[in-house]
Amino acid sequence: MSRKILVLPGDGIGPEITAEAVRVLEALNKEGLNLEITTGLLGGCAVDATGEPYPAETRAKAEAADAVLLGAVGGPQWDTLPREQRPERGLLGIRKHLNLFANLRPAILYPELANASSLKPEVVSGLDILIVRELTGDIYFGQPRGVEERDTEWGRQKVGFNTMVYAESEIRRIAHVAFQAAQKRGKKLCSVDKMNVLECTQFWRDIFEEVAKDYPDVTLSHMLVDNAAMQLVRAPKQFDVMVTGNMFGDILSDEASMLTGSIGMLPSASLDENNKGLYEPSHGSAPDIAGKGIANPLATILSAAMLLRYTFGLEAEAVRIENAVRMVLAQGYRTADIYEEGTRKVGTREMGDAVLAAL
Ligand code: NAD
Ligand code: IPM
Ligand code: MN
Repeated sequence: MSRKILVLPGDGIGPEITAEAVRVLEALNKEGLNLEITTGLLGGCAVDATGEPYPAETRAKAEAADAVLLGAVGGPQWDTLPREQRPERGLLGIRKHLNLFANLRPAILYPELANASSLKPEVVSGLDILIVRELTGDIYFGQPRGVEERDTEWGRQKVGFNTMVYAESEIRRIAHVAFQAAQKRGKKLCSVDKMNVLECTQFWRDIFEEVAKDYPDVTLSHMLVDNAAMQLVRAPKQFDVMVTGNMFGDILSDEASMLTGSIGMLPSASLDENNKGLYEPSHGSAPDIAGKGIANPLATILSAAMLLRYTFGLEAEAVRIENAVRMVLAQGYRTADIYEEGTRKVGTREMGDAVLAAL
């Protein structure tokens, strides 16, 4: 049986960074992994070709695949399109369509990058946290949403609105993912909410307390999101696994990425209940550096490692990729985003070459 991977390069730096991750997968494939790699369109490139950010052909390919490797989508040239046609809708669409509710974003500081972080080395050295972000609910998908004329306390006028909403079953399933992830690590889980203001997140906290009874070996704590944002830069090593909703998780994971030196280092896995998954760097399409060949491909290469681990159970191969990344950092290879004096500044392709050599 072949292992089917759909590659969706997307927009901006997406094609540049996925090309390097695919080279890594192909190198391992020569050793008989039986990976069958196909490509498709998602995001702005799909809008340009078909008028839709998540066209039917890509939907069919995504259904047929075991795993999806994605670059990034979006860019200023599509920002004025109607919302349904924007590249980001394609990404939200594939996440929802494949029921990828569990987003794992590990933030690990490689010792060689201790000085690339904007925080003091002693604050971040040895950092290894996992952010579990719920990915198919919350204000991202809640109804009603929109902009309309309404009577307000300031008179009749246009109003913009979105809805934060979580069903009990959605909270329970992400809670189980988070507790089980904590069980395999340091057995500490911190759930992040805003229960002092938002009913929806009080409900989230209550359900987490209930699910905690199934995991007596895991210590559950709760933190308000504003404090969590502060604690992440004050003393990030207090965290083992953090779990939160879609919107807070989006923001906190970008924040956590800077602890690791650069957003170009943070991979992610988005999983359904059967380990079908979409794997992508946590960053975006970086229009400011697209086409220059200078983007950091390591988050995408590390996402390919997560793909082998979570969807196919190929732990040894995943570790090989991760060790190769460690090795190139130890050898001093740096893209511009993690460059510091005394290291070797390289572009996207040369970084890919170095990882291949280290493999
Ligand atoms: P961004 O993550 O694309 O870029 C933020 C900054 O980080 C930029 O300065 C960029 O150059 C830098 N950066 C990002 N990835 C990098 C890498 N691999 N190597 C070196 N530097 C890197 O965020 P943004 O500018 O807010 O968004 C740009 C576009 O990307 C928007 O259209 C947004 O909607 C989209 N976006 C897509 C995804 C995704 O596809 N998963 C995620 C976030 C943003
Ligand atoms: C991410 C991105 C997406 C999100 C956008 C592009 C829809 O920021 O993957 O973190 O908000 O989830
Ligand atoms: Mn984001």
